[in-house]
Amino acid sequence: MNTRELKIKITEFSERSELPEQEQKLLQQAAKSASRSYAPYSEFHVGAAVLLDNGKVVCGSNQENAAYPSGLCAERVALFYANSEYPEAKVKILAIAARADHFNIDKPISPCGTCRQVIAETESRQQSKIKILMQGESGPVNMTEGIENLLPLTFYEEKLKKK
Ligand code: THU
Repeated sequence: MNTRELKIKITEFSERSELPEQEQKLLQQAAKSASRSYAPYSEFHVGAAVLLDNGKVVCGSNQENAAYPSGLCAERVALFYANSEYPEAKVKILAIAARADHFNIDKPISPCGTCRQVIAETESRQQSKIKILMQGESGPVNMTEGIENLLPLTFYEEKLKKK
């Protein structure tokens, strides 16, 4: 038997102002996008802002549905939208922010498992890592460089190929 311990690296900034200006702005754009979410069921509003290597910023927010699984998270709305509009561009940074109607989110939120899988495929396709910034409505910001830190032992598309 062999037990392996995997290391992940997350950097915590105690507030948004500690980040470079461009990243602060991106988190602000994510927060703005959260205010445009359609979340009448969870009353939990998430926004994502994606910075591309062509300089464009593409935003998305969670979109819910009365048939709950039909809805989509902010991160996937933003990433799919970015890839639909700019299929040649690489994603450099993904900023995520959240706000709830009935309580204060003062800790960073992190993407759900399905969104992590989509981030992983985006990295694999573009052959470069994505910096991920995570924040609640206020409080600290978590930052990680590369989805491996959030989704170790990732399932990649190459596993689908016959040897
Ligand atoms: N949600 C996101 O959009 N992103 C996340 O990272 C976590 C959850 C959405 C899905 C649903 O509309 C609501 O937040 C509550 O789960």
